[in-house]
Amino acid sequence: MTVRTVAIRPFEGQKPGTSGLRKKVAVFRQPGYLEAFVQAVFDTQEALRGGTLVLGGDGRFFNRDAIRTILGMAAANGVARVLVGQGGILSTPAASAVIRRHGAQGGLVLSASHNPGGPDGDFGIKFNIANGGPAPESVTEAIYARTQVIDRYLIRDGIEIDLDRIGETAFGTLQVAVIDPVADYADLLECLFDFDAISTLLRRTDFRFRFDAMHAVTGPYACRLLVDRLGAPAAAVINAVPLEDFGGGHPDPNPVYAKELYDAAMAGRLDFAAASDGDGDRNMILGAGIAVGPSDSLAVLAANATLAPGYARGIAGVARSMPTSRAADAVAVQLGVEFFETPTGWKFFGNLLDAGRITLCGEESYGTSSDHVREKDGLWAVLFWLNVLARRQGETVHGILQQHWQRFGRHYYSRHDYEAVDAAQAQAAMAGLRSALPDLAGSAIAGMTITQADDFAYRDPIDGSESRGQGLRVICGEQARVIARLSGTGTEGATVRLYFELFEADPARQDDDVQTRLQPLFDFAESVTGLRKITGRAGPDVIT
Ligand code: G1P
Ligand code: ZN
Repeated sequence: MTVRTVAIRPFEGQKPGTSGLRKKVAVFRQPGYLEAFVQAVFDTQEALRGGTLVLGGDGRFFNRDAIRTILGMAAANGVARVLVGQGGILSTPAASAVIRRHGAQGGLVLSASHNPGGPDGDFGIKFNIANGGPAPESVTEAIYARTQVIDRYLIRDGIEIDLDRIGETAFGTLQVAVIDPVADYADLLECLFDFDAISTLLRRTDFRFRFDAMHAVTGPYACRLLVDRLGAPAAAVINAVPLEDFGGGHPDPNPVYAKELYDAAMAGRLDFAAASDGDGDRNMILGAGIAVGPSDSLAVLAANATLAPGYARGIAGVARSMPTSRAADAVAVQLGVEFFETPTGWKFFGNLLDAGRITLCGEESYGTSSDHVREKDGLWAVLFWLNVLARRQGETVHGILQQHWQRFGRHYYSRHDYEAVDAAQAQAAMAGLRSALPDLAGSAIAGMTITQADDFAYRDPIDGSESRGQGLRVICGEQARVIARLSGTGTEGATVRLYFELFEADPARQDDDVQTRLQPLFDFAESVTGLRKITGRAGPDVIT
């Protein structure tokens, strides 16, 4: 088996975005494209030479081809051991758990998360570091810099393994272990939650529960955990078989793409329902007649953390991304623990988690997790909610939320996405708001005074690194916020995200229609961005 050196020229645009390198499958299938990025990882991450690499993905189209290529490259680049998930499968949180449990030097996670798959869909690759989390900006910048000058990649032919059979194979200095993708992860979750109480709840015939795996990676994880270990009826897990194109769907757990589940819950036909995304790191939580906003979910879990055995001693602190509502801050204040506001993207939580400053963290984009891994974790959130419901016996999801709002106040919240916008038009709308920022403080939105208007910049409290340009925000003290930013994960044109938050302390006014309450903020956003006028669109494509 000889190592081949293949000459290539750099590809443009291999800059990792909010969450790794994401492109159309057709882009990834160009000869040398995947190889160039992977070689840039091996060239910059020296610990992988002689080290252990974790490898797996969400099972989407091109997953297996990519794994075969990466195995050959790992061999050629001196990796000592690769742990690859059976069938090429590893959910994002499971990959994080495996990296940590096996002391690997890093991992390559193959996924485009919630983006559609198939030959015409998206593919993605992300490098995770030894703590199990997404590489911080310093690392992604180094990888990107390397892709711009790369002129060759190394590959060894003949690394043929049966990806579907668990076992170890040696290829010269490289050991490849095909591992059970669920076991390490399931063991970890079992340590955190009250499985006895959850099991009792799930076995009750009057508890109507459904989990939608959206034909994505969580199917096998949900079956093993919820059905095999916890005793939920098998029919409770739907769309459980991962498909290369997610059955033609959009594996994003939100009211738009998980509509059937959402409608069943909203109509009161389910007591508790949840869904996860393509790679298993997102979660949507629903109760009878109520959708739990992800920002609220983080706050509720923080307030109820001690009900779960893994967090019984309390939480150290909580962090949320800047556009996420400030509901979790209110809980942290009452609990007397630290809270942090970070830029969008899970990588910004890594240092805070490693330093033990926070236990829980989350994003408005259906992401919640804790210090058990260094990724967001969809099934973790589902089990945490089940744990809370099991321990607050007789209470409904709706009831728990209402009580929460009475105690902490309610943060009405919504995100409006304008997808696949012409890039120049998106820039123009952002530029409009950016130029208005200096003059906004002191003026008012619907009677609320603007106290601050800026472009969010973050200084990491642990390593002091600075990240600028993280979203335009207009803040009315504790009362309201309007935020605008461009997506860093899209693969077509630009996606503009507008985020709206309004605080309501009065329990008598906490059950209003969300979009109606936020309307004055929508009008303000249009007046400063001109987004609808510029794009000619009547409204957002997705409202969450
Ligand atoms: C989106 C979400 C962000 C999340 C990321 C990866 O990024 O907004 O919170 O971390 O996906 O799941 P965006 O497209 O906004 O850059
Ligand atoms: Zn995801």
